[in-house]
Amino acid sequence: MSYRIAVFDAKPYDRATFDRVNKDFGFELVYHKEHLDINNVLLASGADAVCIFVNAVVDSAVIDKLHSYGIKLIALRCAGFNNVDIAAATKKGIKVVRVPDYSPHAIAEHTLTLMLCLNRKVHRAFLRTRDSNFSLVGFQGFDMYGKTVGVIGTGKIGKTAIGLFKGLGMNVLAYDLYPDTAFAGANDIKYVSLNELYANSDIITLHCPLTKETEYLISDQSISKMKDGVMIINTGRGKLIHTKHLIDGLISGKVGYAGLDVYEEEGAYFYEDHSDRVMTDDVLARLLSFNNVIVTSHQAFFTQEAMGNIAQTTMQNIQSFFENKDLKNEVIYKA
Ligand code: NAI
Repeated sequence: MSYRIAVFDAKPYDRATFDRVNKDFGFELVYHKEHLDINNVLLASGADAVCIFVNAVVDSAVIDKLHSYGIKLIALRCAGFNNVDIAAATKKGIKVVRVPDYSPHAIAEHTLTLMLCLNRKVHRAFLRTRDSNFSLVGFQGFDMYGKTVGVIGTGKIGKTAIGLFKGLGMNVLAYDLYPDTAFAGANDIKYVSLNELYANSDIITLHCPLTKETEYLISDQSISKMKDGVMIINTGRGKLIHTKHLIDGLISGKVGYAGLDVYEEEGAYFYEDHSDRVMTDDVLARLLSFNNVIVTSHQAFFTQEAMGNIAQTTMQNIQSFFENKDLKNEVIYKA
């Protein structure tokens, strides 16, 4: 029997990878370009499962609809699951699976890219030389060697990023709810309190999940504890940062640089071409006006290797569900 999967947020690159990997699975894939939310949940009716991405909004109202269509599986093709009401899904008997690990290298390498680009002003140099302006004024950077980077969240991505930072000769301070002391010893890094990390880091990079505890972790309060001119990098989730507070920090100069692959209101903009419209999000517009801010549109995951792994694990998760096999990538509700 062929199961029908409604694949939301499907871009040409998703379709290419999923169609290739699906040759080994034989699902009926029905692609929708919209991200799943209450306005278009109807598109899921008739499907056996939905496959969604980072900007879907799967709250209890959407879950109720999915349940009424007889859908029993939500397959996230990403690691984070903050956009799905797991409690509501569990209550309705809908399973949620995800792709916990597809290429920590992709995200860690993008993190480093943002840091180096901001430090050495490559984004500005690119534009300047295109205009035959070969001046170096304003472009002085700093050696990464010997600087201190604070890593918040030392899971798969945080640890991979630490490997890159150590390769540059940086000092690493780390914070995690569950410190891995063996890793710290083997890699010559130090776990410290958040306050110590804020006070002593030249660069701070976020690799923890978005949870109730981490929402707006970076706010005016935490920024006030940081070094003057700190660089903040976020390739985690947008809501880890209170964007208006970050903007205040950038205006005052307290924050010297920000590299953002994610943004708290990204769902309205990221992954789509809005170039022929007026920007209505004043906060995003302000962020984009700073020459010491780089915004990328949630692309840290976007490598050939990661896309292939995402499709393979997603299909495997779906197959395991329909074959009643062990769901090793299930998201289990924790009260
Ligand atoms: P992971 O689960 O391997 O590691 C997360 C780490 O954060 C764990 O060590 C955990 O103990 C720690 N943590 C949890 N709560 C914390 C808290 N309150 N304070 C400090 N640390 C805490 O996850 P992984 O694979 O390293 O991914 C991290 C995050 O990166 C994901 O949750 C996701 O939001 C984001 N991500 C972003 C991508 C992008 O394209 N920009 C792609 C993939 C993931």
